[in-house]
Amino acid sequence: MKIAGRYPLEVSQRFDIGFLGGGQLARMSIQAAQRMGLKCLSLDPDPTAPASQIAQSVTGKLSDVERIAEVFAKCDRVTLENEFILADKIVSACEIAGVDPGHLCPTLTSLRTIQDKLLQRQALQHAGVPSPPAFSLESDVSSVIETLGFPMVLKVRFGGYDGKGTRIARNAEELEALRPEWESGGWLAEKFVPFTRELAVMVYLSDHGTGCFPTMETVQVDQVCDLVYPSGTDASAVALAAIEAVDGAGLYGVELFELPDGSIQVNEIAPRPHNTGHYTLDWGGPSQFEQHVRLVMGWPVHSPFGQETCMANLLGRVPSGRHADAIPAALAEPGLFFHWYGKVEAKPGRKMGHINAVGNDCVNRAIRAREAFFNTWSAPIWDAPV
Ligand SMILES: Nc1ncnc2c1ncn2[C@@H]1O[C@H](COP(=O)(O)OP(=O)(O)O)[C@@H](O)[C@H]1O
Ligand SMILES: [Mg+2]
Repeated sequence: MKIAGRYPLEVSQRFDIGFLGGGQLARMSIQAAQRMGLKCLSLDPDPTAPASQIAQSVTGKLSDVERIAEVFAKCDRVTLENEFILADKIVSACEIAGVDPGHLCPTLTSLRTIQDKLLQRQALQHAGVPSPPAFSLESDVSSVIETLGFPMVLKVRFGGYDGKGTRIARNAEELEALRPEWESGGWLAEKFVPFTRELAVMVYLSDHGTGCFPTMETVQVDQVCDLVYPSGTDASAVALAAIEAVDGAGLYGVELFELPDGSIQVNEIAPRPHNTGHYTLDWGGPSQFEQHVRLVMGWPVHSPFGQETCMANLLGRVPSGRHADAIPAALAEPGLFFHWYGKVEAKPGRKMGHINAVGNDCVNRAIRAREAFFNTWSAPIWDAPV
């Protein structure tokens, strides 16, 4: 006689993976995890966040140690969706939950180094990984000016993203004009890199295998990533060295500069899936999210393979209709894939979704599909009715 099997209640109330943050990166990771029957929980201040729409969530600030502790207590493994939660907060949360911070993937050490852009630069320099020299920006700027010269790039040490914490000073007057922003502390100044193009590499490190996804070229518009496509070059050695320099294990996105002489410098590291890895959702091989879930669970990893693919970001506009009504326009040609994150509010420059074009002529096809989508869905912000 067959007896139906049921999980005991205490098992069903536990989660396999907890996500600190509930944006699109958590959502797409959860989609990969759910495919394998894993139960996921996310923490986000917004109960309508992209991840909260598809799996259980805890509503709370990412700075709330008690709520972070709740995620650690309920989940076997915990991962990040951004690098903004201070490592010390995570340590405190683990103490409250009575769990080892080793339950976090990526490593806590790498998070601590990466989340402070100055510490990150220093770790790269220390390991001999090429990256622009950087210094703390204090009220006496004369030695920084002498060492770096102009133009100079200023960055907020903690919490910058999508260019929101990055300024360029072309001369001493501009540096002075920016003084009200940096004077109260927490900023670095670094050498301006006259790069010919920007590259990005997804790197994974684990006991089961270490390697890189292909090197992609990325194009930023107003410091927000707009297009990602195959670069035709290989920057994986520098990207991997960067992650080793911060004691990394897990999945990381590495942004790089290519200089006129072909040499590579590291711009910045993200300890999580990355916008520049979204092309892997449709390239026919393992996606960065599948890889991320395997790394978090400590499972065997994939060796990356796939077709040439271009990703075009769909950045916020003023909607003039339902986005779903505009999807058919984007999918008119073959080899196109549409992704939408379900964000409740569209803001200028906000990442709302993306389109992947796979195969020949992928860049032009992705751009055409995006134009077709926007022509149907929205007006550019500047044409919007007031
Ligand atoms: N040292 C630099 N020299 C020249 N351009 C830079 C430098 N640092 C950053 N940028 C430009 O600013 C963009 C945003 O800076 P980044 O450090 O990547 O911050 P964010 O965390 O906002 O992505 C980069 O993609 C690049 O285009
Ligand atoms: Mg960046």
